[in-house]
Amino acid sequence: MGRQAIVFSKSLGEIAGALNSSLTVAEKLDCLVQVASRALGVRGCSLMLLDAKRKKLIHVATHGLSDRYVRAGVVEADKSLPEIMEGKTAAVTDTESDPRIQFGEMARREHIASILGVPVMCRGRIVGSLRAYNRIRREFTSAEEEYLITVANLAATVLESSGTLVSAEGSGSTEPKSAPHRRAVRSPVRAVSFAHPSEEDFARLLDFYQIEWVYEPRSFMLEWEGDKVTEMFTPDFYLPGLDLYIEMTTLKPGLTSQKNRKVRRLRELYPDTKIKLLARRDYDRLLAKYGHGPLAGAKTEGVGRILFSADQIQMRVRQLAKEISRDYEGRRILLVGVLRGMLCFMADLMRYLEVPADVDFMAISYYGSGDGGEAVHITKDLDVKPNGRDVVLVEDIVDTGMTLSFVLAHLEARHPATLAVCTLLDKKVRRLTDVPLAYVGFEVPDEFLVGYGLDYREEYRNLPFIALIRQQGRQGDIGG
Ligand code: PRP
Repeated sequence: MGRQAIVFSKSLGEIAGALNSSLTVAEKLDCLVQVASRALGVRGCSLMLLDAKRKKLIHVATHGLSDRYVRAGVVEADKSLPEIMEGKTAAVTDTESDPRIQFGEMARREHIASILGVPVMCRGRIVGSLRAYNRIRREFTSAEEEYLITVANLAATVLESSGTLVSAEGSGSTEPKSAPHRRAVRSPVRAVSFAHPSEEDFARLLDFYQIEWVYEPRSFMLEWEGDKVTEMFTPDFYLPGLDLYIEMTTLKPGLTSQKNRKVRRLRELYPDTKIKLLARRDYDRLLAKYGHGPLAGAKTEGVGRILFSADQIQMRVRQLAKEISRDYEGRRILLVGVLRGMLCFMADLMRYLEVPADVDFMAISYYGSGDGGEAVHITKDLDVKPNGRDVVLVEDIVDTGMTLSFVLAHLEARHPATLAVCTLLDKKVRRLTDVPLAYVGFEVPDEFLVGYGLDYREEYRNLPFIALIRQQGRQGDIGG
């Protein structure tokens, strides 16, 4: 047996050992790309999976590549080594001159000179691609190709047995579990083995708002001694559209400080990586907003501290109206409100405006409302056409940003001339989705607020001020 054959055989043994261990799926895949990189003597390897629409490739396990390269942009399956999607091997011997390289400049900066890529197949269907990246320009041997195909098959086995890939019965299709714009969201969520029910609930919430997610997508090395990695960290979720990792500390409270430390370390080592820690209390409060979780039925003792008096609100609304009037001078705007929280704000704002304004409303379905929809949808659309108009979307509060990002996408598709958001309250600390806010009245803390249109179970909307809700001797512990 030649030297290379021995190396390949040993490395396959190593991968098989990892696959047959108690490592998590993410750790197994990380091990696989790491061992393969070493055996092939290349700079790094990446396992990428097709998204639900089979258009994008998402890196799910990488080794030897910088974060900058991994997050260079959307890898389009039909542009980047497209023959892989036809089940063929793709070999690039010089990335500088090859048109099949989507991010050529990035590859050059990363010192990637040649690439070998093979399809990852599950039951005869292509679900992704495994690629090896080399520092030097060179041809790849058929032994290397065969080896990479074998590793791709092992990766497929891990993915399939863990439920990471979902077989859509009847349609004959196999899709990665991230399901960005899927209507029937229940089955993919069920097919993933979540470590904790709260993670499954969170995945359902993301699915409802059509936010693409990947569960435990990759592990980060946190500590090592020489060549040996002594600590890894696998965040619970990755939201590719937001390029954001989410770690939930909803398990034992004792683990919270440990997780805080890991997140701090990750930020230190990978400063470009965005990660948000969702603590138990934050998470319960988030769920309570939709009438779920342990705080949903919490008893209240009525209204607590007043955060903004009626006078303070009026003063700020008048200022906002002035800003809008100045920015839209000489134009006629269309104010759009998402029912129902914005009603007081909208009514006051429009009366202070010094530019002509039309007004219209839309409504969307709520998570857990049981109206039959498994994904957010419009329940009342605009009567006025927004096409070609200067639209100002008026909100009472922007919290996670999920409502707004859905509504904005809906409005943008109708081609307004301009589209800006005006919100009275901005609960920035709870944001999950980046949304552009042109006009903000007040930034508010993560407390449950009522009054001036905001409700708690449909109560308190008609208060002229904004206050915290008092719950069992504590203020604002319910959600928001
Ligand atoms: C509030 C508010 C926003 C949404 C913001 O509506 O009016 O539309 O929450 O939350 P998000 O940023 O987390 O998506 P709510 O669901 O309370 O309904 P309501 O307007 O009828 O009170």
